Amino acid sequence: MHSWTQTALAAGVFVLAAGGAQAACDVDKPGSALTLMEAAKVYHCLEKELHAGYLQGDKRWIPSEFVTDYRSWKAASDFPAAPGFHGERYLVTFVNPVGEAEYMQFKEENVTMPAGSVLAKESFTVNDAGKVSKGPLFLMQKVAEGSSPATGDWYYMAITPDGLPMTMDVVSACSDCHQGNFGQRDGLGYPLEEARAKP
Ligand code: HEC
Repeated sequence: MHSWTQTALAAGVFVLAAGGAQAACDVDKPGSALTLMEAAKVYHCLEKELHAGYLQGDKRWIPSEFVTDYRSWKAASDFPAAPGFHGERYLVTFVNPVGEAEYMQFKEENVTMPAGSVLAKESFTVNDAGKVSKGPLFLMQKVAEGSSPATGDWYYMAITPDGLPMTMDVVSACSDCHQGNFGQRDGLGYPLEEARAKP
């Protein structure tokens, strides 16, 4: 199938980080059949508990303020969308004040995110039986030029639904897909077009 999907499967991190069940938010149809409004409803049911889960425990090498603060940043999506990458998850993206002006233009080229930009992406899944599960929080931080040439000067991080920092080879698990597919726009994937928020 699609090479992005294959990369995600090979990386395996998405499969391993499946979260706890959220019976109260379950729906009566397959996740792939949800309308935008239905996906938004699941998110509203889940959002408090999702954030509370990410906040649990010691963040170790991940700056904990990313996790405490991201909900106060600019929401880059108006509702959760499932683009088929990131392991068939529904995704909601936030951008911090440093990166907001550049990111929210969703430019196709000549994108230069300033150092200090941080993106946070929440995730959840709805399986074929309509069962809702929490997914990881994905993070990208733009660092000073030359700090990490192998990853386009992005640091990639992820946190399980229970708040644990995920150990992974960020080059193969994250950066290869982001730089390989979106290198011309500074490694940014962007939310699905119909889900994008206004600047
Ligand atoms: C198979 C390709 C692929 C892999 C692997 C991948 N991503 Fe992504 N990522 C995407 C795509 C496509 C988007 C935009 C989709 C969306 O948000 O709707 C995205 C969006 C993001 C965003 C929101 C910012 C943006 O790019 O617009 C973050 C943060 C993120 N990914 C972090 C990670 C982290 C951390 C990893 C590794 C654990 C990772 N990604 C692995 C494809 C990938």
